[in-house]
Amino acid sequence: MPVIATVTGATGFLGRRLVHSLLEENDLIVRCLLRESSDTDALYENVPVIARERIEIHRGELNDKKFVEEHFANSDVVYHLAAALGGSASTMFLNTVIPTRQLLETAARVNVGRFVLISSMGVYGTQTVKRWGTLDESTPVDPMPEKRDPYTFSKVRQETVAQELSESLGLPLVIVRPGVIYGPGRSAVTSRVGLPLGPMVIRMGGGQQLPYTFVENCAEGIKLAGLTPDMSGEIFNLVDDDLPTGKRILRLMKQQGQRIRTLWIPRGAIGPLSRIYEWYSNWSEGQLPPVLTRHKCEAMWKPLRYSNAKAKHKLNWKPKISTEDGLQQTIAG
Ligand SMILES: NC(=O)c1ccc[n+]([C@@H]2O[C@H](COP(=O)([O-])OP(=O)(O)OC[C@H]3O[C@@H](n4cnc5c(N)ncnc54)[C@H](OP(=O)(O)O)[C@@H]3O)[C@@H](O)[C@H]2O)c1
Repeated sequence: MPVIATVTGATGFLGRRLVHSLLEENDLIVRCLLRESSDTDALYENVPVIARERIEIHRGELNDKKFVEEHFANSDVVYHLAAALGGSASTMFLNTVIPTRQLLETAARVNVGRFVLISSMGVYGTQTVKRWGTLDESTPVDPMPEKRDPYTFSKVRQETVAQELSESLGLPLVIVRPGVIYGPGRSAVTSRVGLPLGPMVIRMGGGQQLPYTFVENCAEGIKLAGLTPDMSGEIFNLVDDDLPTGKRILRLMKQQGQRIRTLWIPRGAIGPLSRIYEWYSNWSEGQLPPVLTRHKCEAMWKPLRYSNAKAKHKLNWKPKISTEDGLQQTIAG
């Protein structure tokens, strides 16, 4: 009997790479639950004709219980990636937290073998980790995600809902927390490097490690989290080896002829700047949006180390693409 792996969010930046990685497993069928409007062109890109036969496409809404129940049936594993990465707080909550609750309930009802929830390393609160200390799976989740941003808030709530339901319904759950995912089609210059200001980037520090994972490495780790036996209840962080710094990314871009205008804020100045900014934002009753609060600055730019030891040890995961190659591929587009 072939293994049936059902994927939500299969047309996304990460989802299509997960589908490709799953297709490397012989005797595995990938069942993709897509919206009516989802574009499948990139999903089929570079997939050999023979492997295409193992992709099933089903179109419908994730909040349609009948649709989900029909296609979760007989699934050995469900990978839940679909989520809103932008938009208002309510959009993110509605597209991320609410469907997750319904999907878990349905998965439990039809006895799905394992539910793999794709969360984010952004859920960690870094307050308990010292500067240059190591963030790993034992680091507590941010107790005040509402002080960060709507995306982090929705991912923290999504995890809470999933853990509570997994326990009450007896559904095997694995949570994967990828770092920032980059690769061709998505820039390596993210808010971890700096904040956009018109055509410029305000570079925040530059020497601190960035919790990055190349999209294909990340997809491989997620695949293993769904297929490696006896992983129920586990949480895995996914970040690559040899993590880059913002300085290294910008230098590499320059070497490849790409220029980004930057305004540099030294690391030592981020704390005092965030205090002044937060004070002014409060004093002026929100004249400046609360972008640079102390809570956010800690979470985004504090110098930390990031461990991938657990995924390597338990899942036998190894990031195949080096950071150097990953950055080169990304910058080349
Ligand atoms: N990108 C990162 O750096 C990063 C880091 C950590 C974790 N993650 C997590 O990884 C997952 C995938 O991220 P991504 O970067 O691949 O995002 P993406 O490129 O924006 O893809 C999102 C996918 O979710 C689908 N989707 C969104 N809202 C939906 C809804 N209401 N109903 C059904 N499908 C919906 C989209 O379908 P359409 O094609 O129809 O739009 C798309 O396939 C997310 O859970 C995200 O939180 C991402």
